[in-house]
Amino acid sequence: MARIIAIANQKGGVGKTTTAINLAASLAIMEKKVLLVDCDPQGNATSGLGVDQAALDRSLYTVFFAPEMTPKAIINPVSPYLSLLPATTDLVAVELELVEKMAREYYLQDVLNTVQARFDYIILDCPPSLGLITLNALCAATEVLIPLQCEFFALEGLVKLRQTVEQVKKRLNPALEILGIALTMYDGRNRLSRQVKAEVERCFGTTVFSTMIPRNIRLSEAPSHGKSILHYDVKSKGAESYLALAKEVVRRKIRKKESTAYK
Ligand SMILES: Nc1ncnc2c1ncn2[C@@H]1O[C@H](COP(=O)(O)OP(=O)(O)OP(=O)(O)O)[C@@H](O)[C@H]1O
Ligand SMILES: [Mg+2]
Repeated sequence: MARIIAIANQKGGVGKTTTAINLAASLAIMEKKVLLVDCDPQGNATSGLGVDQAALDRSLYTVFFAPEMTPKAIINPVSPYLSLLPATTDLVAVELELVEKMAREYYLQDVLNTVQARFDYIILDCPPSLGLITLNALCAATEVLIPLQCEFFALEGLVKLRQTVEQVKKRLNPALEILGIALTMYDGRNRLSRQVKAEVERCFGTTVFSTMIPRNIRLSEAPSHGKSILHYDVKSKGAESYLALAKEVVRRKIRKKESTAYK
């Protein structure tokens, strides 16, 4: 059964989509079968992997209220080990349509249940809000990875996000755990970057991944070519760091398993 990892942070522009695409691509390079699910109506993960949204007649929205419909027809193969469940702008309607549904937090879980056995990892790229789509992602996932940009207000948002994850765990999805916090757009020459890193590590300890994602121009160029960083410039610092992050993600699960075995 796939590990389902939600990439979430309600703050905009912190590197969720960049992390979702490049973590998914790095796991795929490691020959893990990966499904990247674009849960954001902006569709950045979809276009960032070179899938033309305008040409799609089916997307996550199509299966959202019809999980019995085979998602097979909606999943786009990207590379031998990487597949994409794309989003189109009509996904925005889901937030409104869910409001009046019963058990509205579990619709995405129902969709993913039907495909979970076919993948090792399912990566969910969340939108920049704590609305119903993100809530659905947190109920479908077993783990949350939080990208955190090293800037002044980063920690304030993080406290709110942690509270939300705790609430979801308590009331809706007891299996949910924070997998880790990944520092993004890190610039070691910048004092603020170093201060935020120190503060986050002081507050969150080993929850913070030891791999930091540097600010790297190649990472920002790759989506306009419809490619992950591994296919765009495998020798870049960006590629190197996402591959290292993927290795940590794989290892962290093993450690978790070991620690429960000792209990
Ligand atoms: N490590 C990095 N180095 C340089 N640029 C980056 C890096 N990570 C992300 N970016 C750029 O920063 C911008 C925001 O990144 P991204 O789209 O991944 O954030 P997001 O959290 O998904 O945004 P949103 O909240 O709108 O979904 C993009 O233009 C992206 O190319
Ligand atoms: Mg995004």
